[in-house]
Amino acid sequence: MTEELVRAEHIGKSFSGVAALRDVSLSLRSGEVHALLGENGAGKSTLMKIVSGVYTRDAGELWIMGEQVADLTPHSAQERGIAIIHQELNLCSSRPKARGSCTSPTGWRSCPRSWTG
Ligand SMILES: Nc1ncnc2c1ncn2[C@@H]1O[C@H](COP(=O)(O)OP(=O)(O)OP(=O)(O)O)[C@@H](O)[C@H]1O
Ligand SMILES: [Mg+2]
Repeated sequence: MTEELVRAEHIGKSFSGVAALRDVSLSLRSGEVHALLGENGAGKSTLMKIVSGVYTRDAGELWIMGEQVADLTPHSAQERGIAIIHQELNLCSSRPKARGSCTSPTGWRSCPRSWTG
């Protein structure tokens, strides 16, 4: 059996007391491709943001490459090889901003001069 890269168990997350995720578990192994399907508001993005360190979970446990992870951040997730491409593309709608700023899993930063001309 291939190596388990990500394991999430009994994940819970609420926003202002409203449950977005309740008792969600997930296992991803090397070489697998998964599609996460659900209606609008089902919690897909919230789960991916927890796995990539953008949100902290309220409940549950997370392992990355066999190591249990307590406090994952976007930076520490990136160091472990986890990146997320966010669906909210309207963040990039401003041309002047796009010329001067670049986004990465750890947030907005200045572009290298060679990228902006
Ligand atoms: N930052 C937030 N603050 C408050 N509520 C949030 C936040 N992020 C998500 N939610 C709520 O959590 C629930 C799950 O949202 P989420 O964006 O994870 O769903 P989704 O499955 O990705 O939906 P979609 O298909 O529309 O992208 C929704 O009720 C949403 O309103
Ligand atoms: Mg979403």
